[in-house]
Amino acid sequence: MSVGPGLEHLLIDGRRVEASGGETFETVNPADGTVLARIARGTAGDVDHAVAAARRAFEQGAWPRFSPADRQMLLLRLAALLERDAEEFARLDTMEMGSPIRHTRGSVVLLVDLLRYFAGIARSIEGTTNAPSDPALFACTVKEPVGVCGAIIPWNGPLWASVLKLGPVLASGCTLVLKPAEDASLAPLRLAELALEAGVPPGVFNVVTGFGTEAGAALAAHPGLDKIAFTGSVETGRAIVRASAGNLKRLSLELGGKSPNIVFADADLEAAARAAVGAAFANSGQVCSAGTRLFVERAIHREFAEEVARIAARLRIGNGLDPETDLGPLVSARQLARVRGHMDDALSTGARAISGGARLTGECHGEGFFFPPTVLIDARDDMRAVREEIFGPILATLPFDAEEEVIARANATEFGLGAGVWTGSVGRAHRLSRGLKAGSVWVNCYNRIDPAVPSGGVKASGQGREYGRQHVEEHFQLKSIWIDTAV
Ligand code: NAI
Ligand code: MG
Repeated sequence: MSVGPGLEHLLIDGRRVEASGGETFETVNPADGTVLARIARGTAGDVDHAVAAARRAFEQGAWPRFSPADRQMLLLRLAALLERDAEEFARLDTMEMGSPIRHTRGSVVLLVDLLRYFAGIARSIEGTTNAPSDPALFACTVKEPVGVCGAIIPWNGPLWASVLKLGPVLASGCTLVLKPAEDASLAPLRLAELALEAGVPPGVFNVVTGFGTEAGAALAAHPGLDKIAFTGSVETGRAIVRASAGNLKRLSLELGGKSPNIVFADADLEAAARAAVGAAFANSGQVCSAGTRLFVERAIHREFAEEVARIAARLRIGNGLDPETDLGPLVSARQLARVRGHMDDALSTGARAISGGARLTGECHGEGFFFPPTVLIDARDDMRAVREEIFGPILATLPFDAEEEVIARANATEFGLGAGVWTGSVGRAHRLSRGLKAGSVWVNCYNRIDPAVPSGGVKASGQGREYGRQHVEEHFQLKSIWIDTAV
């Protein structure tokens, strides 16, 4: 029996509530266009309620009395529950944003590990004892949670982004109001229920679903927030910086990129070609650190580009729920239109596609938003498709002649998130690692992630770091305490 799409509520102060305006919007499965659920359309009034609940939870009740050991246990319980419900979460993300089930299952495993990592950090927060020149003075620093945090997240990894924002909040003793992307609200809502089951006190983790220009803008501007974390486009990042200026809240931003992946002729070219495909096309290119500018030493450029295209053409594209699928659909009709616009632009300015290049339709792709992995040759650094973040499966290959030249061209972008280098030379690996302006440089690998290693951007790719100890530290403020021992 078909019951039709269910209705999802906001989660505020530990309770499911309707949006104050009573309105909802649909969330759609991008593999076939079917409506999965109706989502509450939260607005400014709902954000007010959520921030008030988060403030109460920060200052009163059980949460401020949680010791580091209590917070550690809470994170470990949440990790165990996520592990228990791994399959449900993997399916939610696959159905709502299209990512293949093999990929979303793998993500849950990593996120369970990430929560356990944050559980460890919760027990090792340290201040300092300082040494003023007056011997009568004792001075030390202590770390205190920054307060009520907001987070606005994108749709390309909804569970991933929610866990990444929640983990450090729980490790530090802050509270959180999360605004998911309108295309992907289901996993964040389910995570909030799991947090309650784990014993997170009501009000510590609130989820307000809705549109960016309504709930999102209200959250960014809210005077009751002490910090806001945003992951998404540069343009929206700028709007958030402006909105946050009212009460000068602390900011952290992860704004994507146009990351270079540089292949020298002395590299292990087989490994480099396989990795170049993953770097550009994983999650159908909807990855902030995707390696979308593939610089290849001129002598091997054409042959290497063709090998990349051959490997890409073998990827199976289809419904993400099929365990054989390598690449799912793009998240939405809007994103498909954006990717097709970039494709038309690239072709009309002289680039040529040696694989992919047009939307997939027909019996196995039907109404889904499918676009194949596309490898461009004859691209130039000044083309729009080579300068702007596309967030789809389009890879530009670009020949280069010399090390100094490729460093300069790789850096000639407003972005600076990730960079890949493939070489057999130790010296070159070091020179490129230091010469590239990026938050992360991967040598003879690409897009590696680990809970213990910080990640983030320079220039327009953002500010602040996620993962690692640094991520939790950004949720504390330092207090200096002075005691005059002569008194
Ligand atoms: P977006 O940056 O507009 O959306 C991300 C989040 O921001 C969503 O939750 C959205 O509701 C919210 N938002 C939108 N406008 C807002 C506002 N004025 N105030 C507060 N919150 C607001 O990204 P969108 O439109 O979904 O995708 C457009 C492009 O952005 C993509 O093609 C891609 O290039 C880039 N992008 C980058 C991501 C990354 O991980 N770096 C993730 C998603 C998109
Ligand atoms: Mg969707």
